[in-house]
Parts: sequence; structure tokens; C-alpha cells
Amino acid sequence: MNAGKTLEFPKGFLWGTATAAHQVEGGNRNNDWWEWEHRRGTIADGTTSESACDQYNRYNEDFDLVKGFGHNAHRLSLEWSRIEPKEGVFSSAELAHYRRVLEALHSRGIEPMLTLHHFTNPLWLAKMGGWENPRVVEYFTRYAKVVASELGSLVRFWVTINEPTVYTYMSYIQGVWPPGAKRIRSAAIVMTNLLRAHALAYHVIHEASPGPGCSVGIAKHIRILDPLRPGRVCDRAVARLSDFVFNRWFLDAIETGRLAWPIGMGQKVQLLSATQDFIGLNYYTREMTRFSLSKPQRLFIENLTRPGCATNDLRWEIYPEGFYRALMDLKKYARPIYVTENGCATPDDALRRSYLRDHLVQLHRAISAGADVRGYFHWSLIDNFEWAEGLGRKLGLVAVDYATQARAPRPSAWVYAKIAQGNKLDPAWFE
Ligand code: GAL
Repeated sequence: MNAGKTLEFPKGFLWGTATAAHQVEGGNRNNDWWEWEHRRGTIADGTTSESACDQYNRYNEDFDLVKGFGHNAHRLSLEWSRIEPKEGVFSSAELAHYRRVLEALHSRGIEPMLTLHHFTNPLWLAKMGGWENPRVVEYFTRYAKVVASELGSLVRFWVTINEPTVYTYMSYIQGVWPPGAKRIRSAAIVMTNLLRAHALAYHVIHEASPGPGCSVGIAKHIRILDPLRPGRVCDRAVARLSDFVFNRWFLDAIETGRLAWPIGMGQKVQLLSATQDFIGLNYYTREMTRFSLSKPQRLFIENLTRPGCATNDLRWEIYPEGFYRALMDLKKYARPIYVTENGCATPDDALRRSYLRDHLVQLHRAISAGADVRGYFHWSLIDNFEWAEGLGRKLGLVAVDYATQARAPRPSAWVYAKIAQGNKLDPAWFE
């Protein structure tokens, strides 16, 4: 790769940023995260989302920034607990709110990509057992149907569920997200319900928005998982196993329509096959994997950060090559790919800029090698509530002062603006 060469991206490429409702809106009191974060000891830095970035009220200001940066797309999510505050009761006021939000994007020439589920659940659902309760499939499908019929004319790109495997892992195996469970059996039930809910939502969205432009997928977090000690057969075996379970299982299922081992035995699930029109890739990092007898609950898999590597503020390895590897691996599904998230938690904006440059170089390399990538959404537009880490982590192109809600674009925002406006990356912009 010639470091000095300008890299051109395909015509019509989407450039934007990604956010999620609970992380930016503020005041989402009626969901399981609000309840969770207000318990002692659940959030690393002791903060709670509170007003977050107050984007619920300030979306026009934030979309002015997006427009000023010259992005042509933006990924955001709906807060289910606002739209359906009680089981079966849909709020026309909140649907109207999200209609205004989507119109605010369109009026600025920005294409929305809309996520239906980004980690949070309405409290009523959480109290009924959340994603362990088989009725969640019917509830989620009903919610998707209402939203698609109300907002479908404003949305072409839909993400049904953000990071289903991460959600299951953090909430039902690690137990660090609500409901704080550590039960592998529950995790298997939840994964299956997420799959079924996705499949039915895929179909109801298409029924409500039958136009040719409508495109539905999931956002899949892919972590490169390499053996810590490649010379050891046990480490290689657990790396392959965790790669299969964490990175491939869900994607394979929505392509083949079958529940593979270790959750199923290959049985078919009705209406599940070929329920993605594109693949949404969330890529951040790599982890090293080793066989560990002390982890029977985790199939003897232990994940670690590679000793001595460069990391971000979350101790995630900075590994741009992994972005290329993940994209090339996704080629086999023969679907268009959108990078639905990629970014760096750091207070050091110079690090964010080099992260951005190095990952976009790998993205371009993958496109040149035949990966059908059609868009890139940087995580995130603004600093926000980073789940169990709290408000203190800095992932935004734009800094937020939570006391005043003032926004201040970082230098990385302006470099990314040049990339989006030029549809190209000139390495000189990073000097
Ligand atoms: C993703 C998640 C986002 C955001 C990001 C940064 O896994 O979808 O909501 O938190 O990580 O860590």
C-alpha cells in the first residue's frame, strides 16, 4: 500500500456516523437500562445516562453539524420504550417525534439508516422476562410493523437488531448488562428469540415498505479472534470455536434458515432463510483466545487483549488489518456490506485520527480486493453514554460538555468531513 496515494471510494458511497437512542437522547426512563444504571456498581465511572446528549431535543442542532460536515447518511435508532410505553399501547406523539427526526435528516439531504433495537428494552418487557420470554418475538414483530407502516416512507435502510451476539453475551453470560444474568441456557434461548424476531421483522418491514429500495439487515459485531499461542492445538481449537459462535453463527442462521450447533442441531426455522439484504458490520478490534480449564461456563474459552499491543481507552487492541480480514471474510455471503460502526474510544484525538486513517486504508484495500462495501458509519457523531463504561468514554468526532450540552467538533471531525465530501482519502490530510 502506497501511503502517499489518494484513495478514491466507489461512486455513491455512503459516509456518515452512527448513534443509538439511549446513548444520546437522554431521559429514557422507561427502559431496562435506566433501571440498571441507577443501581449501585453497574456503571464503571459511576455516571448514569440522565440527559445524555439531550439529542431528543437537540437533533436539529446535531443534524446541522452532520450537514456541515458533508455526510450523506446517518445511522440512528428508535427507543422502543418511548414508542410502546406500555404493552400494546403505541404513542402517536412519539411516532410523530421520530417522523420529525427522520424528516430533519431528509431535509438536509442525509439518508437515514434506522435501527429498531439497540440494546434497550421497554421496562414492561423486561419485567416479563425480556428476551427469554418467547412472546418477545410477537412483541418485537408488532413493534416493527407499527414502525414500518408509520415511518416506512422515510426509511430505506433498516437494521432490525444491533449486535445480537454481543447483547446476548453481555446480558446473559457476562452479566454486566441488564438483566445481569450469567446463564448459558438463557443465552441460547435469547439468541434463538433474537433470530426469530429478526426474521419476522424482516418480513413485516418488507410488507410495509414494498418499494425496491427497501433494504433490511442486522448490525453484526465482528471481533477477530486469534489463538494466543498459535502453536497450541487447544488454543487454535477454541479460537475457531469462538469465531464460529461469536462471529458466524447468527449470520449463517439468517442466511441458511437453520439453527446450527451449539444451540440447535441444524433444524429449519420458518421464514428465517435469506433474511438480510445487506450485512451491517461493526468492527473495532481483535482478541486473543486461549483454552482455559477454569472457564467451563464459557466453553473453555478465555479472551485476552494481546500483551503489549496498542490499545484504546477500553483496552481494545487497535488492529486495522482485522478490518480487512473481517470484510474479506464477509464476501462469502455475497451481500452488499455497510460498515455500520467503527471507531475508537480515546480522549486523544490524534489517536482517533490515525485510527480512522488506518481503518479506512484497510477498508479501501478490501474494496479493491472485491468486497462490495457501500458505506461507512463512524462510531460516533458525538461523545455519548457508553453503556457499562458510562459517560466518561470519548468516542465522538464531536466533544460534548454534558454540563452545558455544548458541542465542539474535534479535528478528526474535519478530516472525516473532507473524506466524506471528496469521497476519497488523501493521506496528506492527516499530516
Ligand atoms: C458497539 C455498540 C455501540 C457502542 C460501540 C462503542 O458495540 O453497538 O452502541 O457502544 O460499541 O463501544
